[in-house]
Amino acid sequence: MPQAEPTEQAEQTRGQPVVVVLGTGGTISGRAARSDDLVSYTAGEVSVADLVSELGLQPGLRLESEQVAQVDSKDMDLQIWQRLCDRVRFHLARPEVCGLVITHGTDTIEETAYLLQALLGPTKPVVLTCAMRPATALAPDGPQNLADALVLARHAQAQGVMVVCAGKIHGPADVTKVHTYRIDAFDSGDAGPLGVIEHGQVRHWRPWPSIDSSGVTDQSHRLKAFQALTALPRVEMIFSHACGDGLLVRALLGESTVHAAPRLLGLVVAGTGNGSLHRLLQDALGEARRAGVRVVRSSRCAYGRVQPVEGDPLESMAGLSPVKARLALALDLMEG
Ligand code: SIN
Repeated sequence: MPQAEPTEQAEQTRGQPVVVVLGTGGTISGRAARSDDLVSYTAGEVSVADLVSELGLQPGLRLESEQVAQVDSKDMDLQIWQRLCDRVRFHLARPEVCGLVITHGTDTIEETAYLLQALLGPTKPVVLTCAMRPATALAPDGPQNLADALVLARHAQAQGVMVVCAGKIHGPADVTKVHTYRIDAFDSGDAGPLGVIEHGQVRHWRPWPSIDSSGVTDQSHRLKAFQALTALPRVEMIFSHACGDGLLVRALLGESTVHAAPRLLGLVVAGTGNGSLHRLLQDALGEARRAGVRVVRSSRCAYGRVQPVEGDPLESMAGLSPVKARLALALDLMEG
């Protein structure tokens, strides 16, 4: 396990609260062969210690950094999530630590943020940040995002897991990556951002994420169960679309007997509009339910939540996007 290494510990900063920066990789630590190459770079190359030291922050900030992983976040997996939970929990329990920053790839940052809030519901700020341009770009966005995240992590009232990108503070349930290359790549749908960071000042508009808003009654039990997993309960995602036929659902149902794959326990169906389903897909999902698979309904739409219809046999997951509904369902199934 990598140990925390102090990056700034001048004598005059003793007694100041500490911010710990945990690195997991991503474009924020990406490196390309040329500074004008914003596409074919390798994510997860520059160490988090270098990202922090290159900010050239003024003395008086007590920062520590720790490399938890170094991956392109498309490859995020259970083992890294478990290690991250462990390190986040460890540092949050230190009285001198006022908040954490996690550097992360943009591609799955919304999943990690949702998961950390669902499992830890921290009362200190845990701020995930990222970049759309690699660290070697002519004008990288990572340093400003990291500097903004550090401001939020030191904010006296802030709490919960948040994502900071392009000056906006997003909540874990609402944040979604909506653009493939723009620097301002994230959106919080109808709810909007929690606030902004303007010239080093936090302006917040909505309540901070809290345990109460996560709807979980026994978080420590849930975390213990998660840390003991060797695999997440198997939940797949299916889209409803024109010319649907339900064959994919039937293939999944038949798969475990053929390939000895982990048994399918859940399905998230991203329906059209208000979660509506192609009739043939609906038939196949009925078969899945009868086979004991838990099926939940979400929507392909970027905005709005599925409005419940009386008598609907499928649960809908409180307006979560399909990827977050997948995690919510996997955590539910994990708890039995
Ligand atoms: C990643 O998600 O690790 C790569 C893409 C990015 O960070 O923008």
